[in-house]
Amino acid sequence: MVKTIEMVNGVVRMLDQSRLPLEVRYIECTDYRMVAEGIKRLWIRGAPAIGIAAAMGIAIGAQGIRASGFREFMDSLEPIFETMLSTRPTAVNIQWAVDRIKRGLNERSDEPVENLKRFLVEEANRMLQEDIEVNRAIGRWGAEFIKDGDTIITHCNAGSLATGGYGTATAPIRVAVEEGKRIHVIADETRPVLQGARLTAWELMQDDIPVTLITDNTAGALMQRGEIDLAIVGTDRTVANGDVANKIGTYSLAILCKEHGIPFFVAAPLSSIDFSIPSGQYIPIEERSPEEVTTVFGCRVAPEGVKVRNLAFDVTPARYITGIITERGVFRPEDIHRLQDPSADIEALRLRPER
Ligand code: MRU
Repeated sequence: MVKTIEMVNGVVRMLDQSRLPLEVRYIECTDYRMVAEGIKRLWIRGAPAIGIAAAMGIAIGAQGIRASGFREFMDSLEPIFETMLSTRPTAVNIQWAVDRIKRGLNERSDEPVENLKRFLVEEANRMLQEDIEVNRAIGRWGAEFIKDGDTIITHCNAGSLATGGYGTATAPIRVAVEEGKRIHVIADETRPVLQGARLTAWELMQDDIPVTLITDNTAGALMQRGEIDLAIVGTDRTVANGDVANKIGTYSLAILCKEHGIPFFVAAPLSSIDFSIPSGQYIPIEERSPEEVTTVFGCRVAPEGVKVRNLAFDVTPARYITGIITERGVFRPEDIHRLQDPSADIEALRLRPER
């Protein structure tokens, strides 16, 4: 499996996903601003991966701070937090990482600054390791819903490239394959940035997982022909009522699944669930540059001056979602808010496949 990101000796090394699959090139970020630039420019992308990248950026940015005590250190960190938070608005994982880091630092308010700096490096590396474990757990729970011979459609890239490794939407697929099930993946190409074509197809082929690439508008026709059994996608932010923000086109795919009676699953690590937002209409949706739509790899495909809307994400209402696959199990979207309740009977809430 390819390595998406790592931090070695104060340098954040990220695979430049904007070049894939034509070129496998790593970029070494020696400065937190460069990490932020990498997140903005999609050198690294995918909700969990940008959360980890932000944590690593904060860790390397903190090393240069001169502060005599806790308060001064926290004040100097604030612009670094803000820089990371200003990169991409929809995925909640950057906010999740910043909140977790602040909590950890506040618990160490009586420690010397050198310890706080060391903590930031250790915490960022911990997030990377934990993310891989979380993905594997998502894989184990989700694979229960996959049958031998299934054809599974996915949208965008919620694979190892979008995470610390292993992937979220691809995790159940990987586990199913490891269990010996014969699986075929249909990858939507995912206009305008083509994460499905450039990233999902590429990474599955690297691991010999059978994959067929389609244009986004082919999904309905394949469903009509009975060629798709299941859909699994990732999420940038899932909220308390079970509404899900994910790459633009996810909503249309979910409606198609509903029409054809195809189960539609969302793989969502807890780091991508925002319990503070009651429903999807409040999720900030990133709008990106018109050039992503009017050009393809630098080549203009639309008339000069044409008006463009380029929403990077959409919101799929909970009613279209069969189950949300988390590291704690698979749940109905309407039950997802119960995960924040320590007294909830998680076992009773878990969705299990019909046998
Ligand atoms: O714009 P991107 O490429 O960052 O969008 C990524 C997605 O929409 C993914 O599906 C989502 O982040 C889940 S990644 C496990």
